[in-house]
Amino acid sequence: MEILHVSAECYPVAKAGGLGDVVGALPKYQNQLGHIAKVVMPMYRTKFLYENDFDIAHKGSFGMGPYWFNYTIIKERTNKLGFDLYLVDINGLLDREAVYGYYDDAERFTAFQIAVVDWVSKWNHKPDTVHVHDHHTGLIPFMMQYCYAYQHLAAIPTVLTIHNAQYQGWMGWDKALYLPEWNSWEWGKLDWNNNINPLASAVKCALKVTTVSQSYLEEMRTSANGLESLFEYEKGKCTGILNGIDAAVWDPAVDTYIDHNFSVENVDEGKLVSKQLLCEQFNLDAEKPLFVFIGRLVHEKAADLLPQVINDAVYHMQGTMNFLILGSGEPGVEWELENMKTPLAGYYNSKIGYNEKLSHLMYAGADFLLMPSRVEPCGLNQMYAMRYGTIPIVRNTGGLRDTVIDYGEPGGYGIVFNDAKVWDITYSIHRAMELYGKTKRLHKIRTTIMKIDNSWETSAAKYINLYSSLGK
Ligand code: ADP
Ligand code: GLC
Repeated sequence: MEILHVSAECYPVAKAGGLGDVVGALPKYQNQLGHIAKVVMPMYRTKFLYENDFDIAHKGSFGMGPYWFNYTIIKERTNKLGFDLYLVDINGLLDREAVYGYYDDAERFTAFQIAVVDWVSKWNHKPDTVHVHDHHTGLIPFMMQYCYAYQHLAAIPTVLTIHNAQYQGWMGWDKALYLPEWNSWEWGKLDWNNNINPLASAVKCALKVTTVSQSYLEEMRTSANGLESLFEYEKGKCTGILNGIDAAVWDPAVDTYIDHNFSVENVDEGKLVSKQLLCEQFNLDAEKPLFVFIGRLVHEKAADLLPQVINDAVYHMQGTMNFLILGSGEPGVEWELENMKTPLAGYYNSKIGYNEKLSHLMYAGADFLLMPSRVEPCGLNQMYAMRYGTIPIVRNTGGLRDTVIDYGEPGGYGIVFNDAKVWDITYSIHRAMELYGKTKRLHKIRTTIMKIDNSWETSAAKYINLYSSLGK
């Protein structure tokens, strides 16, 4: 089968979170299964662009409301990522350093989607499936069916994967004129609550909808930032397929981001060396258990609770542990985390920002990873942590529920709690401290979690089965 993945992110080209990891790995694994999976994404001004060679694959142009854009599709020359990578260049719109966060993101991603559909419409042969990811690509199934210029693509099955239903790409109806001329009888397929809602549109128009864990699929019917009734109505076309991890990238035995590689055979020594490096760098004490948080500092991740949790834990447990945070997001949370550094020096430190290398060292050197998420469709951090022998402390939600079993349960290995509340998280830290004191049990759990197979093979095959069921 030939599958075209359309996404705003793809690691290592551009990544803001787990979407990038998934789209950087899934196509590679689909190719390994004997299929042809390709990725098309915007051409941001990232390091990857400047460090690699590309050929021009296509040039075209389109109108978007009052604007006229030329676009160029370039293709990476060496198949370096294990799949064909296409980048869409639109001067003045996509050529920015960051993926998101600009005042004109609605225009940027609408233009990107039109360029992709326009390009596919020019192909002699057609892909067997167009697989779109999240709201940034959510208008594509609509355009392929209801924009007059592209209706000849309507027979190509489309699949939407929802990585996070919190973000929907809402835009006012004034932006409807951006879409290439479309059948206005079908306005309801764009609308949700009097706005154009690209995620809702994709749920309505794609042939199949997947999300990234079974538990999140069920949760969306009662909690999906306003789209609950849509998911209830469309449940027949929705499936949960758990994400995997790229076991070649996330492997402590060969990871080039860490200086001291280790495996299940020498996990305790291996982790200690990385922990010592971290502790030297961040003025912490490697004798104490190290708790880390890595991620977006946003409400969904319950990052707002971290300052109080850390203060309470250090106070009530007499500073017998250390905390290290890596992340960026809400300015208020960043400010609090920054300002705690001096009063809690020696017990706590943080690095505000995005740092891929440091994140790998933290997965390697930490004893415990905190993930108190209020919403977590899948979550990759807990799976990376486990691969590096770091015990996850997670809230019982979404993909966290599907990937971590509490060590108090038969066959369990992590720490699971129910409430995104300070007291429940500090109680879990207390449990972690007890576990840390039991050296043999700790070692057993570390080796168990490192051996858990969360790689992509099974899930990549599930997607292939799904596409195969779609032949029109
Ligand atoms: P989400 O996509 O919701 O942010 P995931 O758990 O699926 O959450 O994936 C997050 C990914 O982003 C992981 O690869 C994690 O290591 C990475 N990440 C998040 N924040 C940072 C950061 N500040 N620096 C480096 N990597 C980060
Ligand atoms: C989203 C979700 C996260 C998931 C990731 C990859 O960003 O928040 O839980 O792991 O997408 O699917």
